[in-house]
Amino acid sequence: MFSLAIAILLLSSSCFAAGPLAVPLGTAANYAILAKAGITAGQKCAITGDIGVSPAAATSMTGFGLILSSDGTYSTSTQVKGKVYAADYASPTPARLTAAIGDMGTAYTNASTRGNPNYSELANGFIGGRTLTPGLYKWTSAVTINGSLTISGHATDTWIFQLAGTLNIADKQAVVLSGGASAANIVWAVAGAVTLGVNSAFEGIILGKTGITMQTNSTINGRLLAQTAVVLGMATVTGA
Ligand SMILES: *[C@@H]1O[C@H](CO)[C@@H](O)[C@H](O)[C@H]1NC(C)=O
Ligand SMILES: *[C@@H]1O[C@H](CO)[C@@H](O)[C@H](O)[C@H]1NC(C)=O
Ligand SMILES: *[C@@H]1O[C@H](CO)[C@@H](O)[C@H](O)[C@H]1NC(C)=O
Ligand SMILES: *[C@@H]1O[C@H](CO)[C@@H](O)[C@H](O)[C@H]1NC(C)=O
Repeated sequence: MFSLAIAILLLSSSCFAAGPLAVPLGTAANYAILAKAGITAGQKCAITGDIGVSPAAATSMTGFGLILSSDGTYSTSTQVKGKVYAADYASPTPARLTAAIGDMGTAYTNASTRGNPNYSELANGFIGGRTLTPGLYKWTSAVTINGSLTISGHATDTWIFQLAGTLNIADKQAVVLSGGASAANIVWAVAGAVTLGVNSAFEGIILGKTGITMQTNSTINGRLLAQTAVVLGMATVTGA
């Protein structure tokens, strides 16, 4: 009887999602990259998913070799498996982008104002080598991923990381998912600048209050949602 109760407890704990309520991304979730001020691409970027800028115009997207569609609502680029949108394209693109940018701001506010964190100032922000289980994490400082970081949990578990400072993953370091954890359920709400170092590998949705830079040969499985600009070296972005 007692062991049956334990078995049921174990079973139920693996069936129900752990971690905070999901951050409502709204239509911002339709974009692999969204930026207010512009997107700069180095050579040989590989982006999977749609990208967009607003209120900036198409001229704020450089390095893409954009080719405008015949109806003027989007562009294509050899570096993007998806469509490229800008605020000065033909209707309905401007209104859709305005809505997505609004949703991006709402999502940032939602994620960054959640209270009662499960972990505060973990490792003073130096989280390389750690394994992070589902929850709400808060830092008033910068966060540096100075070693492999493991995010461990089930497919429906959630993580919110609130950073008042910058986020930096050092060159050659990786965020690794284990136990079925999904990049779509990991949200980084960052007030400062975000930098993904050379040859680094990142996971999750980045809601940047300012800009996001991906250095040469860095990868992200997730989304870059920036309230200023996105700068890509030879980067790989896979929308999740
Ligand atoms: C954030 O989103 C959650 C989940 O949708 C919602 O329950 C909560 O009220 C929102 N919080 C704020 C401050 O908007
Ligand atoms: C995280 O904090 C929330 C809100 O205080 C709480 O309900 C939840 O049980 C905590 N989770 C963990 C793993 O401590
Ligand atoms: C990250 O940096 C902190 C502070 O310097 C240090 O204590 C920790 O050992 C470093 N972690 C790794 C994995 O290098
Ligand atoms: C880019 O990353 C891949 C995979 O980690 C590696 O094989 C390759 O050497 C890197 N290229 C450069 C220019 O660093």
